[in-house]
Amino acid sequence: MLSAYESVLRSIEELLRSLNGALRVAQLYPRGHSAITSSLEKAANALKILLETRDRLTLGILENEVIFGDRAVYQTTHFAGYLVQVLRDNGVDRVTFLTGCNQSDLGELVDLLQKDVESIHEIGGIQHALHARGIRRIVMERLTTPPLTRKTEDIFLPEQIKAAPLPDSLIVQAQSGLEDVVGSLNKRKPIPVDPARAYVYELTQTLVEGQSPLLTLALLESHEDGWLKRLVKVSTLAVAFARQLGLSQSEVEALGTSAFLYDIGLLSMGVDIQDLPYEDEAFQTHPIEGAKILLSGKEVDRLSVIVAFEHHMWHDLSGFPKVVGKKKIHPVAELVGLIDTFVDLISGGPDRPSHRSDQAILEISRYAGKRFDPRLFTRFVAMTGVFSPGTFVRLNDGRIGIVIQTNPAHVLRPQLRIIRLSDGTILETPEFLDLSREPVSIVILDAINPSDHGIDTSQYR
Ligand SMILES: [Fe+2]
Repeated sequence: MLSAYESVLRSIEELLRSLNGALRVAQLYPRGHSAITSSLEKAANALKILLETRDRLTLGILENEVIFGDRAVYQTTHFAGYLVQVLRDNGVDRVTFLTGCNQSDLGELVDLLQKDVESIHEIGGIQHALHARGIRRIVMERLTTPPLTRKTEDIFLPEQIKAAPLPDSLIVQAQSGLEDVVGSLNKRKPIPVDPARAYVYELTQTLVEGQSPLLTLALLESHEDGWLKRLVKVSTLAVAFARQLGLSQSEVEALGTSAFLYDIGLLSMGVDIQDLPYEDEAFQTHPIEGAKILLSGKEVDRLSVIVAFEHHMWHDLSGFPKVVGKKKIHPVAELVGLIDTFVDLISGGPDRPSHRSDQAILEISRYAGKRFDPRLFTRFVAMTGVFSPGTFVRLNDGRIGIVIQTNPAHVLRPQLRIIRLSDGTILETPEFLDLSREPVSIVILDAINPSDHGIDTSQYR
């Protein structure tokens, strides 16, 4: 006997499989051919069953997978890979089928997807094209990354979130570790590693178990020094991640230290990290420079040298530097490379907007399996959550809430305080909602900017 959830997944599988089949055969046969209509009929039947118990079915496209609720539909690539590919090519991150969506609507969709990406783009994109054909019960969305520059005063932390910033004494320690490194670089002396080690040790003693490390980082925004902030962010996430992976204290410290020294090659070049494009030849030499500097340092761990050398190599070795015969990147270098990329996205730069954590996760997910081991990425997301505490989110039933805690086992289903009901009623006392315990039909539609929805955040502090 299948559970209700398994039945839903079976129906989604049938829907995707049949749509995939219709899309394939539509390449061979004219519109209306029985080979197409029989697949469309199966898809429509599966969709009908799914929409009997909900007013919409929302599916996310994440890399090569289709996500329903917080889970990937098992092995989508095996039975609906072409469909997923075509949707991705058209920039679709999310598909919603609304009540009443029928075989004729699906037929229009399949017909539209026969066009090449450029033609669809020319007619205003896939959603516009669907509208033009009168299809209102299929919604195709691309998740946007609106510019969002955060400063300390913009970080919204409701009272319910217990936040502990990193103490100033720790930041001072990080600063002295950095100054010692920079001073030695300037004097061309061997790098002293002990101050960095001492800072990382204090960091391991300071980080609160169970608190989102992203929240800790959000509270760091007021510190101005770009390099200092960057190294504190990367080392903090690295320590939190190493702990989550179950490493021992000494392993956590070694990994944390390597995540403080990893970009020493770039630091030695004396340029602002945000000013050099990734493709720049000088930029691409910084891992080699960094490894050289560390090799000439005092009592430097081998791990720190490896991480400095390999943190841009990527999981599939498509990055730099290129090493003939190299088969595999060191897992800690890959981990630091992942965190470096994440920090880069959430921090932004003079010409790049900072991303919310959910936007950064979505961005990095495009590289899972290429630049990053998908298992490592999954573990990372389990730690950060997709929607970090303090994020305002909209549910598919129209309610709006604030994330107060992530659920590591259900990264898309955090704990919330609901502040607005579907009909627009604002709750004087926000209601607690643990999405991981709610029916799977209730999902987060997207993260929102509270001011766009007329929400006064000061009410919830
Ligand atoms: Fe780097």
